Amino acid sequence: MKLKTLLTAATMLVFASNALAAPIVIKFSHVVAVNTPKGQAADYFKKLAEERTKGAVKVEVYPNSQLYKDKEEMEALQMGSVQMLAPSLAKFGPLGLKEFEVFDLPFIFDDYAELHKVTQGPVGAKLLKKLETKGLIGLAYWDNGFKVMSANKQLKNVEDFKGQKMRIQSSKVLDAQMRSVGAIPQVMAFSEVYQALQTGVVDGTENPPSNLYTQKMHEVQKYVTDSKHGYLGYAVLVNKKFWEGLPKDIRAALESSMKDATKFANDVAKKDNDEAMAAVKKSGKSQIIPLTPQERAAWKKAMDKAHKDNMGRIGADIVKEVYSATGYKPE
Ligand code: LMR
Repeated sequence: MKLKTLLTAATMLVFASNALAAPIVIKFSHVVAVNTPKGQAADYFKKLAEERTKGAVKVEVYPNSQLYKDKEEMEALQMGSVQMLAPSLAKFGPLGLKEFEVFDLPFIFDDYAELHKVTQGPVGAKLLKKLETKGLIGLAYWDNGFKVMSANKQLKNVEDFKGQKMRIQSSKVLDAQMRSVGAIPQVMAFSEVYQALQTGVVDGTENPPSNLYTQKMHEVQKYVTDSKHGYLGYAVLVNKKFWEGLPKDIRAALESSMKDATKFANDVAKKDNDEAMAAVKKSGKSQIIPLTPQERAAWKKAMDKAHKDNMGRIGADIVKEVYSATGYKPE
């Protein structure tokens, strides 16, 4: 028998004996719908991981805040009650990792190509490394998309935001972004947004179209401004102790599954968001408001305050590294 065949047989044997023992369970909790970029990528990771470990690993995906809401899922991961998450980059501040809020800076990325210069470059890697100080490992960045603004009034000019109560994720940069245009930000778990919009607890919100559409937010918002004023995406996290305690062969199989699931996530993100936007339009439930280049420039000019006010919080070095990767310049 050739050495390679022998080695493959040995690997199969290791996996088979692993599979005979109780499988290693990875609970992967997330807050969005199954038919979103993150939801589909989590399911794809499950498929690959279970196939490639021949059943030695079982991935249980819990979508739609079924298991934990935003804040609880972070705590659950640190405590080891779940093993894997893909929280939005706008939710790392409360962990003490304010640097991740660089991704929330309004108008910092013009498109996915600029985003990838950061997530697939040295700054992205440096940021993931910081997670280790919190007992976590960052395995990958998964894309979602560029946010739209929704409300029951047309948000076209900066003045239109005045006094509007806007739901945000738990990021101080997003708080500053909303305040920069005169809105009143309110942090709220994702699972509560639909009802808060429906009952008028808040007037509006921001999210990529894939989240807006799959949560049916457009059914309780009269207007959706196609602003693409900021980015929302994820880092896939695992509990460090759990990850480092895995047998080497299993970890390697999971790493290769994550690599392919990441490619999958980033391949579907734009298409999913484009389709969601088209579906919102087609539904006729809310009106899409386009922005002229001048209107968009006015938003950018006003929202630049969120950059200035958060330089110290994020770290001027990180902000500058991202600026030089993406070429951000204020109006
Ligand atoms: C939100 O809270 O609006 C998003 O972070 C939800 C998500 O995970 O995409």
